[in-house]
Amino acid sequence: MASHYDLFREFKTVRGSSSDYGVKFVHLSYTMNANEMVVQWHTYGYDEKIGKPMVLIGRSAQELNSAPQWFGVGAQTSTYGDSSVTGFDHAVLLTNLTFDTTFYYKAGFGSVVNGAPQLSVSSEVHSFTTRSADPDEVTVVMFGDMGVFFCYENIDRITELSKKHANDGNFFIYHVGDISYADSYPGIMYQYVWNKFFEHWEGVHPSVPYMVTVGNHEHAPRMGPERHEYEFNFTAYNHKFYMPLRNNTDYGHNMWYHFDFGPIRWVAFDSETNYPNCPYDPVFKGDHVGYVRNALQTVNRDETPLMLTVGHRPLYCTEKEFSDANGNVVGSAKHLKDVFEQDWKANKVDMMVCGHAHVYERQYPIYNGTIETKNPTNYTDLSDPLYLISGAGGCLGGLDKDHDFNRGIPWSFMSYNKEEGFGVLKVKRDKINRRQVTVNWQFFNDKGDLVDQFTLTKTK
Ligand SMILES: [Fe+2]
Repeated sequence: MASHYDLFREFKTVRGSSSDYGVKFVHLSYTMNANEMVVQWHTYGYDEKIGKPMVLIGRSAQELNSAPQWFGVGAQTSTYGDSSVTGFDHAVLLTNLTFDTTFYYKAGFGSVVNGAPQLSVSSEVHSFTTRSADPDEVTVVMFGDMGVFFCYENIDRITELSKKHANDGNFFIYHVGDISYADSYPGIMYQYVWNKFFEHWEGVHPSVPYMVTVGNHEHAPRMGPERHEYEFNFTAYNHKFYMPLRNNTDYGHNMWYHFDFGPIRWVAFDSETNYPNCPYDPVFKGDHVGYVRNALQTVNRDETPLMLTVGHRPLYCTEKEFSDANGNVVGSAKHLKDVFEQDWKANKVDMMVCGHAHVYERQYPIYNGTIETKNPTNYTDLSDPLYLISGAGGCLGGLDKDHDFNRGIPWSFMSYNKEEGFGVLKVKRDKINRRQVTVNWQFFNDKGDLVDQFTLTKTK
């Protein structure tokens, strides 16, 4: 069987030259403001002589060419360490976008001449559709733990789904940590694997926002002769993505954040740093646990009834690393449970979606080991959160093996490790009773088979 290194030799690109200014890996993300979008991309080289990062948009391909609107004020170009290795990441914030509108756009570098934008380097034309101001229906693809080898079929399925939602601005993707597994190859390949991961997504990323949370594999290159210190401490993750607090002077990173999307408050926590007994040194600016608590508390549930938390590591998982044979939570799951479970309960978190275990799991609604109900398919007005592990994105080593799991744990509804797959969350708010939402969760394997589903209705 070919090793991963043999497979890498089959890839066409390795590392670009520093005189290559070509726009690569265009991707999108949301901010905390409903009418904004961040466009981000990568180049192997950058020189100010090609101009500043700019994005041109138009409501049609023709308008894009003849009378584009342009954005570039406050654009950011970042690099770190040896830029001939790490390349450059560029971000442009688009503001005051009209809702529910398809925009064609080009990303690149240029200047404004006599009031008209001119690009000296340009991407091809892409398009995206903006979200609604306050959408009643939201669809989100959710998975974690996706590398560059076991992802192909999942990405094919997600690409098909994205095409079905091509004009739906209320459709996006959430990758809940362990993004590319770039750390798992000799150091010289670290940036190359990151690039390869983005290359896999080129059919989707320019059109569908891609929100992320941090995973352990974003920490640093782990092996190999060229293991650059400047790539440690989640540096690539904090350059290559642009989550809602990255431009906030009190934080300035992607480690945790929150944002609202129609009936949902999304609270992204950091399972890796900045809490008691966390796996890595608490190096990031800001009070992580206080921020998360505040994000849970400061929402008007009449306006935003659904509270979802997302992060990388589980609280409840049947793998032996995270629970014993009796279902007692252990290891990193216990540390996270000690920090967050009471807050989830006190603030009526509806669901938590994570990865880290390379499996799909769903637990019964639970608080501190006590199961609220064992009805597995239709829930109404739960008191305790539902815990989902969508960690079957396609990790480096494939799915976790049967012997990794405890079986028969009372709080476990199901555990599926046969095929890679992804979750699809659909949220629908009642147009009259704004407090009422219906959540439909489905998990599909990468063959397209429906593996699990349930419905949660909230009426109060
Ligand atoms: Fe992980």
